[in-house]
Amino acid sequence: MHRYSKFQKIWAVLPIFLLILTKTSNHCFAQSKLLFKVKADPSATKIPPAMWGVFFEDINFGADGGIYAELIKNRSFEFTKPLMGWTIQRKKATEGELLVVNRKDDHPNNPRYLQVTVTNAQPGSLGITNEGFKGMGIKKGLRYDFSMLYRQSTKGVKLHFELIGKDNKVIGQGELTPTNGQSWTKQSTSFYATETDPKAKLTIWFEGTGKIDLDMLSLFPEDTWMKRPGGLRADMVQMLADMKPGFVRFPGGCIVEGMDLENRYQWKKTVGPVEERPTMINRWNTEFPHRSAPDYYQTFGLGFFEYFQLSEDIGAEPLPILNCGMACQYNTAEVVALDELDPYVQDALDLIEFANGDINSKWGKVRAEMGHPKAFNLKMMGVGNENWGPQYLERLKVFTTAIKAKYPDFKIIASSGTDPDSERFHFLNDNLRALNTDIIDEHYYRPADWFLKNAGRYDNYPRNGSKVFAGEYAVHADKAFVGNERNNWQSAITAAAFMTGLERNAAVVEMASYAPLFAHIDAWQWAPDMIWVDNLKCYGTPDYYVQKLFSLNKGTQLASILLEDKPLTGQNGLYASAVMDRKRKELIVKIVNHSDKLQNANFQIDRPGKFKSSGWVEEMTGDSLTETNSFKLPTAISPKQSQVKVKAGQLNMTLKPYSFNVIKIPFN
Ligand code: AHR
Repeated sequence: MHRYSKFQKIWAVLPIFLLILTKTSNHCFAQSKLLFKVKADPSATKIPPAMWGVFFEDINFGADGGIYAELIKNRSFEFTKPLMGWTIQRKKATEGELLVVNRKDDHPNNPRYLQVTVTNAQPGSLGITNEGFKGMGIKKGLRYDFSMLYRQSTKGVKLHFELIGKDNKVIGQGELTPTNGQSWTKQSTSFYATETDPKAKLTIWFEGTGKIDLDMLSLFPEDTWMKRPGGLRADMVQMLADMKPGFVRFPGGCIVEGMDLENRYQWKKTVGPVEERPTMINRWNTEFPHRSAPDYYQTFGLGFFEYFQLSEDIGAEPLPILNCGMACQYNTAEVVALDELDPYVQDALDLIEFANGDINSKWGKVRAEMGHPKAFNLKMMGVGNENWGPQYLERLKVFTTAIKAKYPDFKIIASSGTDPDSERFHFLNDNLRALNTDIIDEHYYRPADWFLKNAGRYDNYPRNGSKVFAGEYAVHADKAFVGNERNNWQSAITAAAFMTGLERNAAVVEMASYAPLFAHIDAWQWAPDMIWVDNLKCYGTPDYYVQKLFSLNKGTQLASILLEDKPLTGQNGLYASAVMDRKRKELIVKIVNHSDKLQNANFQIDRPGKFKSSGWVEEMTGDSLTETNSFKLPTAISPKQSQVKVKAGQLNMTLKPYSFNVIKIPFN
């Protein structure tokens, strides 16, 4: 990996050195200034308002064990091994019995429960311990809300709770006396933690004599996003809210396709009461043997309603992706027979009704009953994820015809497969354009070189017809870098260079999202990822800050920046784009110096009207290309703001080696 700290050291003494040299020789060392012409034309292309968004998938324990704040793993005993995540605590064999009971004919969505029979049990003699998702993140002083479904055929069992921290210390206690009898009832209790622990456990001790059936054993912290009971981790949502993303793409990703059709994501199974949402194996459970995750399941506590709500909370357009009747082509490649595609298409139509329909419509009513009578105003949907081949086109056409017949203005996003250069891609791209598809979803997980070479990828794309959604992308460092080390400054600055090409082509590129979004440091399958979390904290990688800078400075209209009359697609290692923000009254230039040289820049701004005499630069740079952020140094690589002077439409500044600069120049 290239290091350039030497250059930075040289840079520190360079001005003195230059002064001496220019005194002695007028030619020899004067670094020439690059002249950038920035033109802001008020009638230029509009920036799509939802251009920069986020891609959410339940991968890397992003949902269960991640943003979904449930602390108990396998809360309803539906994992393949029903007691996975649970340990039975027993002092004497005679004190009771624990049985996993299956009543699938009566409760196909939530068939199993735990039956506990005890005789004269005391706290500490018979219990169950849940290990959480790689432990439970517990915070001192915070309230924890426990709830369960239960019924008692013989009354008399009391429950005691202990949060167990490091060295088996009890760091929180509570109790619950079930009051009801024969029918399933929900009951809750709360208690406070006395210490912080990132990897605590919860033990439930049984006391007394009797028989109790237990299901949906659940523990949530009080500090969820917007304090919603059973909600999302506030710190993780805040990271997203801070980006002000234009859209949230959900629920993936390959998870949409499933390993086979049975395992595909079906939104209808993720709405309504949580206890009625059937648990399913997460496809990332078995995908990578070297990152095996046998305990990775989807409870769908974060389901489609919650995805819509999240999008609304953070001011983003919801962008669901639905299965198109095809399972992952890298796994089973199973497709549904064309004459049996109807239910899949119906799911798409019903989803639009769920999101937007009147509260008296079948699915609008479900939304209203979940607490959101107002429509979510869904405008677009992806049909298929990374599907390819003629079989995809056949199915897409059926979806498109049905959706457009009912909702003519609704936008459909089509897949272009898994990679952006192959024959498969060109076959689909040509066909989709011929069909006048609204938006084509392109994915690229590629090494840095690919991104640099493709900074001008869209410069020659047709301006009319289908738009592009860069729906999943990330710069992948060499495999020598593992896990969160893969999100280093090289990956981020290279993405920034490429993104200037997306922005410059806002006439074609409608939306873009980095992927994947979240990864749990102890439980990831796929890296790099934008935000890394543990049970208590999260931090944004350099990629996060690059994405955030683009999103927060997206502007309203395109402007142009040229060097020798050409757009910057790598000349001198420079990449750039420019926009105007008419609401904020700013001209915004994004420029990446992807070289090991310091470069002097002179920006000449051509715009009618007056600029203020000073502007701002947000600069990102690192000590080396391999530098990363971390839990210890979460903002080591993040934007640093400084002021710049603007005089007579000119701005001079120095672009540090390997730096990304967002220059904001206010105008009257
Ligand atoms: O982002 C991780 C995976 O990469 C997605 O699930 C899939 O769409 C792509 O292959």
